[in-house]
Amino acid sequence: MEGSDVLKLTPFIDQLPIPQYLTPHERHKCFSYYEIGMKEFFHEFHSELAPTKIWGYEGQFPGPLVNVNSGECAHIKWKNELPDQHFLPIDRTLHGSSEHMPDVRTVVHLHGAEVEPESDGHPEAWFTNNYHTVGALFDSPVYKYNNNQRAATLWYHDHAVGITRLNVYAGLVGMYIIRDEEERKLNLPSGAYEIPLIIADRGFNEDGSLFYSDTTNVRPGPVQPGLTFPHPSVTPGEAFENITVNGKVWPYLEVEPRKYRFRILNASNERFYKMNLSNGQKIIQIGSDGGLLETPVYMDELTIAPAERMDVIIDFSKLAPDDTIVLENTAATPFDFPSPIGTPPDPETDGQIMQFRLVDLTGPDTSNVPAILSYIPKLRECDAARTRDITLDADIDEYGRLKFLLGNKGFMKRIDFKPKLNDTEIWRFINTAGATHPLHIHLIQFQILDRTPFDAQGFTANGLLNFTGPPVQPDVNERGWKDVVQSPPGFVTRVIMRFAPFTGRYMLHCHILEHEDHDMMRQFEVVERKCECKTNCICKEHK
Ligand code: C2O
Ligand code: CU
Ligand code: CU
Repeated sequence: MEGSDVLKLTPFIDQLPIPQYLTPHERHKCFSYYEIGMKEFFHEFHSELAPTKIWGYEGQFPGPLVNVNSGECAHIKWKNELPDQHFLPIDRTLHGSSEHMPDVRTVVHLHGAEVEPESDGHPEAWFTNNYHTVGALFDSPVYKYNNNQRAATLWYHDHAVGITRLNVYAGLVGMYIIRDEEERKLNLPSGAYEIPLIIADRGFNEDGSLFYSDTTNVRPGPVQPGLTFPHPSVTPGEAFENITVNGKVWPYLEVEPRKYRFRILNASNERFYKMNLSNGQKIIQIGSDGGLLETPVYMDELTIAPAERMDVIIDFSKLAPDDTIVLENTAATPFDFPSPIGTPPDPETDGQIMQFRLVDLTGPDTSNVPAILSYIPKLRECDAARTRDITLDADIDEYGRLKFLLGNKGFMKRIDFKPKLNDTEIWRFINTAGATHPLHIHLIQFQILDRTPFDAQGFTANGLLNFTGPPVQPDVNERGWKDVVQSPPGFVTRVIMRFAPFTGRYMLHCHILEHEDHDMMRQFEVVERKCECKTNCICKEHK
């Protein structure tokens, strides 16, 4: 490769890699046992680019697919086999990142899973490679996933305190698929016709190395007095010009004229994508974060925020061999810190994600997309034990940098939200923070109730909400189970959920990873319900 004259990578010259399924190390009677090691290695993102040093689960980016049946327990030993030194810059001013902390600390969260707190990957339950003696809390923990939930596309990724953005950007992501009978009976496209699409943007230096300009690090000094938010020059968050799918920049995939199922995951740190097909054909969405929707929805455009999953069908049957179509992106993204390769604005490539190339049909398409996919019991507002208000706030840290908060507080040991086990609650996300934040809640799947515009300017922490319009219903493709919700600025976004089946501490955070690390993350604790009657009651809850 001629490193020095490559400033822009050519789209659609590399084939889409398909992540492989991981086979268990051992199969026991009631669980399968896996070991997944995190390794440093060189990865080829594009054939015009020199190999890039990255990190990945099992030395792969994205990591191997974990594939389980609903109810089948998986025990996974997560092993940190990384070097002692991080190859990305660590900002020691961030929470949990002091020089007393090991540079290379990792912890794994299975995003979207109902998991006991001990196996959920709490940001402070990090562990190091085995050679570290200082501060190592656990050495290669074995996490237990009972997978007692409906079929869904989950994903696993790093969650270490203060450096999640770096560890994920370095490559620590993978997909985890739960299947069940209900879904199997539908006869959706499967086997070679069911393909994960894990989308993540990356920046590169000319020598092929990963580019990351830590905005939390390099943000200009003190903010001018009187500066109001949002201010374009102080937006933390890192967007990169090169869109990778399954680890390749702008790949192509050969497809037959038939139906395909794509499990799309936005694994980017900050970027949102607005996806459409270049021939104007609709994308049929069949599932969201928490599994199948009730009915397929026909979408002209899909807006996917970081950490969201969209399970879709694309029907190529009307196309002819040799046709090509492009999965396009029309979301406008500010590139605050252009990377040396693919320097924006780049209208040619900026609008592209990947290409589909039609080849001959190898056999009849016997798969189906039934008009009814599933049944989603609606959580009712009248069942909610309480409503909690959580503001999304912009703030300035002690170094004069912009940071974001939830409920005007950053991540710390305190816990202000304590839902009772089995209670249904409504949470209102009151966004005064100038941009859309994809909020994620661990442990549960929720339903989106609505989004209502309000006067964010005049809102104070103790103030009443001054609504400026009627509630807006969630989009048709958002009317299923979700664990990430796009919370737009100037709107109160309401979600409803039931806190079960575990008690303990879990996280609530923005999934823009630069925000999560600085400092848009809080914990909640699901607590045991205690019987409130005063006399000698015999109920189980009376303790
Ligand atoms: Cu996908 Cu707490 O994160
Ligand atoms: Cu999660
Ligand atoms: Cu955010």
